[in-house]
Amino acid sequence: MIGEPLFDAPTIAGRVAELGAQISRDYAGKKPLLIGLMSAATTFVADLIRAIGVPCQLDFIAVNQFGDGDGIALEKDAAIPVRDRDVILVDDTVDTGLTLQYVVKTLQERAPASLAVCTLLDRPHRRIVDIEIKYRGFEVPDVFVVGYGLDYRGRYRELPALYAHGTWPA
Ligand code: IMP
Ligand code: MG
Repeated sequence: MIGEPLFDAPTIAGRVAELGAQISRDYAGKKPLLIGLMSAATTFVADLIRAIGVPCQLDFIAVNQFGDGDGIALEKDAAIPVRDRDVILVDDTVDTGLTLQYVVKTLQERAPASLAVCTLLDRPHRRIVDIEIKYRGFEVPDVFVVGYGLDYRGRYRELPALYAHGTWPA
């Protein structure tokens, strides 16, 4: 089921280093709060935070999708207050954008000083709602991707590279 690697481990590491350098420049003199979306973004955010040269804090949010996919709820909230913080929301993939739209709205209501979105993968062809993405690792075509934290029904998260999976989860 696993196809060719879309991005191998050195390519991912190189791109994460570039994103870290960009974030370090943009947040010079600040102390951003990284909020990773569980579980798929944990591998990415673990590498990203080590590529950032300014002091950071790290927290996580988990969301639940229910119903036909447009129902979204917080399953685990962040513990660190976001008010007046420079928040960087770190996700693995922006697909339809519905998940991030919900999380961005939820966090905006808590009055952060700023809120930027960083995603490892962006699949713009499938977007339903507009999401402003400030930092993006790679654009991907219309294939389901696994590895480097991304799963297909709970599998393949441990793979060090990003692979195209032959099918989409039902
Ligand atoms: P969205 O709400 O449609 O933007 O979906 C975003 C979420 O679906 C991401 O945070 C991922 O967890 C998951 N997802 C979307 N595409 C993929 C993929 O290709 N591989 C693994 N997970 C994905
Ligand atoms: Mg996710």
